[in-house]
Amino acid sequence: MDSQYSDAESSVAQAVPVGLYVHLPWCVRKCPYCDFNSHEPRGEIPEGVYVDAVLADLEQSMPALGERQFESLYFGGGTPSLFTAASVGRIIESVRAADRLAAGAEVTLEANPGTADAGRFLGYRQAGVNRLSVGVQSFGEASLRALGRIHDGDDAHRAVEMAAEYFDNFNLDLMYGLPGQNPKGAEADVQAAVASGASHLSCYQLTLEPNTAFAKFPPALPGEELQAEIETIVHGHLQAGGYQRYEVSAHGRPGRECRHNRRYWEFGDYLGVGAGAHSKLTQDGQIYRQARVRAPQGYMVRAADGDAIAERRLVTDSDLLLEFMMNALRLTDGFELDLLVRRTGLDPATAQPALQRAADQGLLEIRGQHVQPSARGQRYLNAVIREFLPD
Ligand SMILES: C[S@@+](CC[C@H](N)C(=O)[O-])C[C@H]1O[C@@H](n2cnc3c(N)ncnc32)[C@H](O)[C@@H]1O
Ligand code: SF4
Repeated sequence: MDSQYSDAESSVAQAVPVGLYVHLPWCVRKCPYCDFNSHEPRGEIPEGVYVDAVLADLEQSMPALGERQFESLYFGGGTPSLFTAASVGRIIESVRAADRLAAGAEVTLEANPGTADAGRFLGYRQAGVNRLSVGVQSFGEASLRALGRIHDGDDAHRAVEMAAEYFDNFNLDLMYGLPGQNPKGAEADVQAAVASGASHLSCYQLTLEPNTAFAKFPPALPGEELQAEIETIVHGHLQAGGYQRYEVSAHGRPGRECRHNRRYWEFGDYLGVGAGAHSKLTQDGQIYRQARVRAPQGYMVRAADGDAIAERRLVTDSDLLLEFMMNALRLTDGFELDLLVRRTGLDPATAQPALQRAADQGLLEIRGQHVQPSARGQRYLNAVIREFLPD
């Protein structure tokens, strides 16, 4: 792999594709495993004021995009389905009115089965949402109770049926390796998910995250062997059901990968607005990261004042390689080294020693310009990424 890139070529010359993430930070009840920026509202959700703040934040942020339009828009949470279709529509319309929404953009909204009703789903569709992501997690009563979810199995089935009625493109989030779960329970969940006709399934192994109720009072989880058995069953049913695993947890039917999330893994740009949202933006060949004020109340005040950004930093060259790899190596198909050049401006020669070390350990497969995690590399992703830590 000779260095064949001149300085001029290695600058981040081409426009980097960009998506918009909108964070809606409230949930009916905080789930005990969740470390996302989500809050139980004290009283009514200040929906109108929050949408005003998001719109003000968006307007302030537009100059950082240059001429670019958003190729996807993602409403995440929290529980976005607590917001009315009218509020969601206000945000979509304002992006469209500013001529920032690319034609055919993917517009996703996360919905919780505990807050689902048919009128609302139809309303989202009419407001311009064209992809729904339903947080089912499980269809089993015992698992849903163990996860502290606000919905039961019937709610899960009903929400999935409604999603299928109004959206040809919808995702279900599933979790496995749950407290008290046995392989039969995991199998029933994944079978129900496959039978739903979802175009995409995101399947996450439950992890105990710091600063959550589960970290403080850890539930008994299936042991390592049982976890491995469950994972084999889940992945087997997904593959047999026609879903292609294209990232650690993401499985899509052909042509139905999540374009928004795929852009994260391809180290594309994203503007994140809303409480605590993160952004990665390329400007004049430099990559910046930003984080919005995390507390919803503080965010609304600061956004109204025209400065919702709590932190911003330039990503240094020494961190760039690691950050690129942390994302791109999640893709099961891997990436071309040309992508590293286009997204970071780095000379691939800088990656060569770490790539070779990982390949020597059987963690990566390198064919010409193509880099792909091996089956072992997929399993031990942290070991691969460790090779790219700056000195
Ligand atoms: C940003 S969350 C929001 C989705 C939505 N609020 C919900 O829970 O229905 C996206 C997904 O991450 C997964 N997730 C959250 N915490 C997790 C954890 N500790 N371990 C594994 N998966 C987790 C869940 O499947 C969840 O649906
Ligand atoms: S509904 Fe989703 S975002 Fe809200 S607390 Fe539960 S997992 Fe977290």
